[in-house]
Amino acid sequence: MARIGTSDLDVYPLCLGGNVFGWTSDEQQSFAVLDAYAAAGGNFIDTADVYSAWAEGNSGGESEAVIGRWLARRGRRDDLVIATKVGQLPTAKGLSAANIKVAVEGSLHRLGTDHIDLYYAHIDDSTVPLAETLGAFTELVKEGKVRHLAASNYDTDRLAEALEISKRENLAGYVALQPEYNLVEREGYEGKLAALVAIEGLSAVPYWGLAKGFLTGKYRPGVTVDSPRAAGAGAYLDDRGLRVLAVLDELAAAHRTSVASVALAWLGAQPTVVAPIASARTVEQLDDLLGAATLELAEDEIQRLTEAGAR
Ligand SMILES: NC(=O)c1ccc[n+]([C@@H]2O[C@H](COP(=O)([O-])OP(=O)(O)OC[C@H]3O[C@@H](n4cnc5c(N)ncnc54)[C@H](OP(=O)(O)O)[C@@H]3O)[C@@H](O)[C@H]2O)c1
Repeated sequence: MARIGTSDLDVYPLCLGGNVFGWTSDEQQSFAVLDAYAAAGGNFIDTADVYSAWAEGNSGGESEAVIGRWLARRGRRDDLVIATKVGQLPTAKGLSAANIKVAVEGSLHRLGTDHIDLYYAHIDDSTVPLAETLGAFTELVKEGKVRHLAASNYDTDRLAEALEISKRENLAGYVALQPEYNLVEREGYEGKLAALVAIEGLSAVPYWGLAKGFLTGKYRPGVTVDSPRAAGAGAYLDDRGLRVLAVLDELAAAHRTSVASVALAWLGAQPTVVAPIASARTVEQLDDLLGAATLELAEDEIQRLTEAGAR
C-alpha cells in the first residue's frame, strides 16, 4: 500500500480505471473485474460522473451506478478508496459552487455511499474563480461527503494557484493530481508539473497508464484491433512506439510477466507516482495488469524504457 500525498488514504499501487464499466464491459463482466481486483488486494477504484456519456445509449453515470450496485452486492465499503470526479457530465458541467453541490449528490446516490474518498475536479474550469470551486469542495469535506480533494487535467500555473488559494484562504487543498502520463506520453507531466507535485507533497495518479491499450503490446504492424480505443491507441505505432515495444517485450520475457505489467511498473516507479490507473474490460485482461503491483524493475531497466520512449 502507498499513501496519497498528505492524505490518510493508503492505496494499492495499481488503481482500477472505471470508464469501461457500463461501456465496453457489461455489468456481469464489470462485477467480475471488480471482484478479481479486490480479491488480489486492490482497493483503489477510479470513476467519474461523466462515464460513459460518450457511448451510444448512455447519458453518463453508468460507471458509478455499476460500481454502486457492486458495492451493495459486496456489502463492504470501508476497505475501498473510491475516487470520482465532477465537471464533465453534460447535465452538470463545470466547477461552479452550485454545480458541485448538485453533482456530488448524483455521484453519492449512484455509488450508493455516504462519502467519496477522493473527489476530483475533472477539468480546470477557467470560467469559475478557483476560490469558489475550492470553497464548495471545502463545504463537502466539512459535511463529511468527501474525504479528500484532487485535481485532474490542471496545468502547472493553475495547480500552483489553486494550492496557494487553499493555503491563503484556509480552504481544503488538493492532495493529488491525475494527469495523462505513460511511457509514450511524457511531455505533459514530466518537468515543471511533476516538480510542483513533488515540492507541494502531492501524489500523481496518472491516467491512460496503458496509452489506451497500446502498452499492452496488442497493437502491432499489420494487426487489426477491435476496440473503440483502436484509433487512439494505434496512433502510437510509429518508430518510437516500436522501440518501446521492443524493450517491453524483452523485459516482459526476462521477468516472465506481461508487457502491460512492465509498462505500468515503469510508470509506478516514476517520482511522485503513487498508483497508475489502468482499466480492464475482462478478468483475463486484468490478470495481465496485476503483475505491475509487485514487479520491481532494476534502475537500468527503467532507464532503457525511459530512453526508448523519449521523443
Ligand atoms: N482524468 C481524466 O481526464 C481521464 C481520462 C481518461 C481516463 N481516465 C481514467 O483512467 C482510466 C484508464 O484509462 P483507459 O481505461 O481509457 O485507458 P488505459 O488504461 O490506458 O487502457 C485500458 C484499455 O486497454 C485494453 N486492455 C487492458 N488490459 C489489456 C490486456 N491485458 N490485453 C489487451 N488489452 C487490454 C482495454 O481496452 P480494449 O479491450 O477496448 O482494447 C482497456 O480498457 C479510465 O478508466 C479512467 O478511470 C481519466
